[in-house]
Amino acid sequence: MSSSKPVAVITGASSGIGAVYADRLAARGYDLVLVARRAERLREVSKKTATRHGVGIRILKADLTVEADLASVEDLLRSDDRIALLVNNAGNGKLSSTVDMRDADANATLALNVVAPTRLVRAVLPKLVKRNFGAIINIGSVMAFHALPITTLYSATKSYLLTFSQGLKGELAETDVRVQVVLPAGTATEFYDHTGIPLSAFDPAAIMTTENLVDAALAGFDQGEDVTLPSVHDAGLWAAYETARSTLFGATQTGDPAPRYAAD
Ligand SMILES: NC(=O)c1ccc[n+]([C@@H]2O[C@H](COP(=O)([O-])OP(=O)(O)OC[C@H]3O[C@@H](n4cnc5c(N)ncnc54)[C@H](OP(=O)(O)O)[C@@H]3O)[C@@H](O)[C@H]2O)c1
Repeated sequence: MSSSKPVAVITGASSGIGAVYADRLAARGYDLVLVARRAERLREVSKKTATRHGVGIRILKADLTVEADLASVEDLLRSDDRIALLVNNAGNGKLSSTVDMRDADANATLALNVVAPTRLVRAVLPKLVKRNFGAIINIGSVMAFHALPITTLYSATKSYLLTFSQGLKGELAETDVRVQVVLPAGTATEFYDHTGIPLSAFDPAAIMTTENLVDAALAGFDQGEDVTLPSVHDAGLWAAYETARSTLFGATQTGDPAPRYAAD
């Protein structure tokens, strides 16, 4: 890829939401680095995207739960000066109770949903801050603020990503580096092939297409949002939630036990 275009790195670009980000970001003039485990699927996305938009695309086969592979993506993020956007999209979540979940599945979810995005952000951020330019888009989930008995671990990882993203926004407030966290609800992707619960088990009326999801998320990005809830029609609900959160935090700063905990 020898060009002067900005580069967007998209993890989990071999299917679903990530593949649509590839198309939309190429349409916006980015060259791309597409990261995932399935090289053949990455090649398909790359070919289709390059044909449609004529941008430079590099594919990087990497399992982000494997140390050497994750380190190779970190190296790329640290070394390529053209990288202007990181989309932390790769994520998974076997749906099971915490007790019943296999160790391998729990470890993979923590590694992919928490460790990998954190390390990739830490790898790319110094350059972005130095140049005072660029953005990070983290793909969270509405499960960040809702835990069902079979989503405990997945929900907790997405809560982490929400808090991490909001904290970063505060850190970067004096810079022009943007952080957006996108919180999708049910979206029609292969995600459900891996969760253990098929997409067909959900109300089709509550499921969004990947194209609508990514287009809405990018509209939120363009509007300067730091938290984007593509399926929530009343934006005031998030504002009220944030106000309640901040009021609650303020109310913790008393230094005194609350009267309800006083010994009789
Ligand atoms: N679909 C939904 O309803 C929904 C709702 C809320 C949030 N989300 C979030 O949206 C994001 C994208 O998921 P999706 O719905 O588009 O599902 P998807 O089609 O299954 O895409 C997941 C992507 O992550 C990649 N991936 C999985 N494990 C990986 C690993 N170990 N290393 C590197 N890449 C890996 C997959 O590629 P390979 O298999 O080729 O590695 C694939 O490209 C996830 O973070 C998910 O939590 C989805």
